Amino acid sequence: MRTIDWINGGIELIDQTLLPGRLEIARIETVDALIGAIRRLAVRGAPALGVAGALGVALAASSEPGPAERDAAVARLRAARPTAVNLAWGVDQAAACLPGGFPGVLARALEIRDDDVAACVSMGVYGAALLTELAPARDRLAVMTVCNTGGLAAVERGTALGVIQTLHERGALAEALAMETRPLLQGARLTAWELARMGAPYRLVADSAGPFLLARGHADAVVIGADRIAADGDTANKIGSYALALGARRAGVPFVVVAPETTIDMSTPTGAAIAIEDRPAGEITEIRGVRLAPDGAAALNPAFDVTPHDLITAIVTDRRVIRLDRGETLATVSPGSRAVEGSGLR
Ligand code: MRU
Repeated sequence: MRTIDWINGGIELIDQTLLPGRLEIARIETVDALIGAIRRLAVRGAPALGVAGALGVALAASSEPGPAERDAAVARLRAARPTAVNLAWGVDQAAACLPGGFPGVLARALEIRDDDVAACVSMGVYGAALLTELAPARDRLAVMTVCNTGGLAAVERGTALGVIQTLHERGALAEALAMETRPLLQGARLTAWELARMGAPYRLVADSAGPFLLARGHADAVVIGADRIAADGDTANKIGSYALALGARRAGVPFVVVAPETTIDMSTPTGAAIAIEDRPAGEITEIRGVRLAPDGAAALNPAFDVTPHDLITAIVTDRRVIRLDRGETLATVSPGSRAVEGSGLR
């Protein structure tokens, strides 16, 4: 099952707003419908947004009446969400093929889709090996994670949750501790759904309990995904990641970021330059249409935070492991081959 795909001239994607109650496929035939799906998080997660961006350009090339409308639609799509660099990257990759016409754009978008599958397999292998190395005394590891970084956040298999899945497949997972991930509950709704489907042992954790559980020794490692990794290793990811990193440092627990090479943005020097998406106040003041806060209550709702690189033990990509705890950096460790070679990205 794929989270997002190109079927019969349009995009089909799992509508993640309906999970875990209903597994439904939404068909998207215009760029504006895709932008709406991205904004309401029907499709979400950095790698899936990269694929959505690329396929969206194919949609623009096939459905917009002329070049001016097409280019305007591509620009709107690129700006649909600001933090995950993969969206703009996917749009740019496919848009670069526009001069050759629709077939070339679609071919590039499908290449990006297929490459995501290979990249996630590789991250699983590299990440599982690293976690095993970081906790050598354990036969089976307890791993804490936040948000949803599984197949739903990518195409078939995930990044940080892909590492947990690989450990599980090898019989090396004691349990996954999944943060519920307020306010939109990607952990409680989506990660729990994925862990149950893979038959992995897991427990849900209220966001505020994470650092305390780390202090009490409940996890051997924390693994998170990323929406954008700056040149110095500072990492934007779902709100709550920074608190876990602080708790992990205090408890002496390894804190590992897992993301494809395409999430690294060397043009952004540090985390301070990463645009953080502000989400609507209603996501805090209400839950699924039920009012929680008094009428008129204001709210501040950043969708992401930035974990400074000095709190990160290592960054795992599909092509390298960068041990920040040993003084390695994105500049000093060059990308190598995939753990399992698939199609190579240009
Ligand atoms: O707001 P979301 O659900 O798109 O946020 C997703 C995350 O923060 C993920 O951790 C990140 O995109 C990596 S997904 C492999």
